[in-house]
Amino acid sequence: MLSPSDFIPKNYSKTVENGSFQWSAPSNIALVKYWGKKEHQIPANPSISFTLKNCKTITNLSFSKIEKTDNFSFDLLFEGKPKEAFRPKIQKFLERVEVYLPFLKDYHFTIDTQNTFPHSSGIASSASGMAALAVNFMSLEKELNPEMTKDYFNQKASFLARLGSGSACRSIKGEVVIWGNHQQTENSSDLFGIEFSELHPNFKNYQDTILLVDKGEKQVSSTLGHDLMNGHPYAEKRFEQAHHNLSEIKSILTKGDVVEFVKLVESEALTLHSMMMTSMPYFILMKPNTLEIINKIWRFRQETAIQVCFTLDAGANVHVLYPANVCEEVLQFIKNELVVHCQNEQYICDEIGKGAQLIMDN
Ligand code: PMV
Repeated sequence: MLSPSDFIPKNYSKTVENGSFQWSAPSNIALVKYWGKKEHQIPANPSISFTLKNCKTITNLSFSKIEKTDNFSFDLLFEGKPKEAFRPKIQKFLERVEVYLPFLKDYHFTIDTQNTFPHSSGIASSASGMAALAVNFMSLEKELNPEMTKDYFNQKASFLARLGSGSACRSIKGEVVIWGNHQQTENSSDLFGIEFSELHPNFKNYQDTILLVDKGEKQVSSTLGHDLMNGHPYAEKRFEQAHHNLSEIKSILTKGDVVEFVKLVESEALTLHSMMMTSMPYFILMKPNTLEIINKIWRFRQETAIQVCFTLDAGANVHVLYPANVCEEVLQFIKNELVVHCQNEQYICDEIGKGAQLIMDN
């Protein structure tokens, strides 16, 4: 089993003066949810997610060698313009990963980032953002150590992304990623995400239409939410259930059982929100429109037998999941009945994707 020290490089065989990379990394949506963490971004339970395709962050990293300094030297741009508000988050990330990327203080970096989804849409950009940054730094490390294997690159990118934002470690690869030690999953790790490679064709190109119910700032950050699982009265049972549900969903995804998928995924979403409602302090992130949408999905499924279901992340938005072959019917239903419950009738059509992509290498 790998330990964090396995990601500390011994020495580099090359030197590099300057250059730039551009990577995109997608968001992901958990099917079995991660909620609760230990120190150093170690999850309290294992999780599994669909990697998305269209909701992504594109990050350009330029670097030029400088005299080693005491502080990190970087400029931060969002959509080409300076964005001081993002600095503390990046500073914290660099501090956390410095031991694993010992070259960080040898360069001045310009980090220029943009998202394909609307700003403050309630879609967390931290997963895609941290994953995009991690793969860029790995590209630089690969220049310094060209012998690096592809597997090590991906594992370490996921490991670094996790230190930025837990679920970001599931955004490096596609189409389905498992993160967290799980007895029934070979090579699973709390330190990074691994690909689940037995996806049945029924789940190929699975659709995720994200209904933007509430685009406002989250009332409770996920960091605080995770903390509230410490000492939560139902925590141990929940963590046990997540292990069990992960075994179940792996079998569902392998067999292509879309009916059982619906039950497990909806139950996970509601369990996540039940944990929030039963913590102390308690809180509710769903909005009246979230419930309207859930009820309409249930009615539509009952009437049509089309296996469409919902999941939720830590917010009011609803992810509508369905097989690609019922796309037309479901999109019509969404337009006719669900968009009225979205803020400014906004929604985003997404589907399962393949993970981070290198766009440019100079
Ligand atoms: O990665 P974080 O700390 O933003 O937590 C993500 C938590 C959920 O989205 C609610 C669940 C998950 O597994 O992604």
